[in-house]
Amino acid sequence: MAHDRKRLLAALNRETVDRPPIWLMRQAGRYLPEYRAVRAKVGGFLELCYDPGLAAEVTLQPLRRFALDAAIIFSDILVIPHALGQNVAFREGEGPVLEAIGGEAEIARLDGADLGARLAPVYEAIRRVRAELDAERALIGFAGAPWTIATYMVEGGTSREFAAVKGWALARPDSFAPLIGLLERAIADHLIAQVEAGAEVLQIFDSWAGALPEGAFDRWCVEPIGRIVARVKAAAPAVPIVVFPRLAGTRYEAFAAMEGVSAVSLDQTAARSWAADRLQPRVAIQGNMDPVYLAAGGEAMEREAENILRAFGGGPFVFNLGHGVMQATPPENVGALCDFVASWKR
Ligand code: CP3
Repeated sequence: MAHDRKRLLAALNRETVDRPPIWLMRQAGRYLPEYRAVRAKVGGFLELCYDPGLAAEVTLQPLRRFALDAAIIFSDILVIPHALGQNVAFREGEGPVLEAIGGEAEIARLDGADLGARLAPVYEAIRRVRAELDAERALIGFAGAPWTIATYMVEGGTSREFAAVKGWALARPDSFAPLIGLLERAIADHLIAQVEAGAEVLQIFDSWAGALPEGAFDRWCVEPIGRIVARVKAAAPAVPIVVFPRLAGTRYEAFAAMEGVSAVSLDQTAARSWAADRLQPRVAIQGNMDPVYLAAGGEAMEREAENILRAFGGGPFVFNLGHGVMQATPPENVGALCDFVASWKR
């Protein structure tokens, strides 16, 4: 197989690379002063997501500063419920606020007919980033998984206990299923459109996978993602797909065994030797560094990066965090981490 010039694509295709690629979840965002300056120019967060020029600009900001191997398009997982017609707002210091849905009548009111038109600014931003991105760096598109998006749609925002969404999904599964089915179609269409616009890798974020009990994990996490992966691969067979079922514990195995998945992104609680033995023979590993090490920087960060590189660097591996960059992270720590990974020798 021809050798990919882009380190991220090579690692995801299990080709040998000079060193592991690195990118970071939430590498664009409020820890960067230049992001805060752009953010201050627009009214709401969603306005920024739907402005192709500004979205492309903030996508590229971390790549101007740091030796990252990939850009991830600046957007949000909640553009899907917004494009389906649900009210979504981001309030300062409060996170996302949605007009919660609670039953079948409210599901029926959601409408995916205009999804492609409503999300067109995201695809335009992708085209602009691809036109500016250098040949060594890959562009990642993404979407939330059905379960995680549904938690926001039903809880009306971020939740600790997930009482409403779990009450519905676990006690009345046949009533909840149409919501997941609707989301599967919307998410698959959105991912395919991102590839058509120029995304070279896709990541599916199931940030709240760990909230599901054992008996419901397959139905609401594994199976919907499996159907999305199958649809996307049918339309775009060459695009590598990374799945991030956060806090899934040993259930990461379901995704390592899934047809069409190139990598699993590990949260910081995943056991390294287990993951290297059980997952890495089948898929590339991504992630696993606690974002707090990046916020702390210095020797503690470098020691942890070394441990992670020793655990995973012998096989296909993409350096990343176990969750997003924290707002309190000094930007220079990101530079130091990129340099550390770039100079690491197997
Ligand atoms: O990674 C990147 O740099 C790309 C952009 C990106 C954002 N959100 C930008 C963002 C990505 C990939 C996401 C994914 C996302 N969004 C997830 C999955 C990953 C995870 O964190 O678990 C989730 C659950 C969301 C939903 C969401 N969006 C929440 C809960 C919040 C509020 C929390 C916060 O940090 O404010 C957001 C807002 C958001 N999305 C911000 C950014 C940069 C901050 C908003 C601002 O700038 O005002």
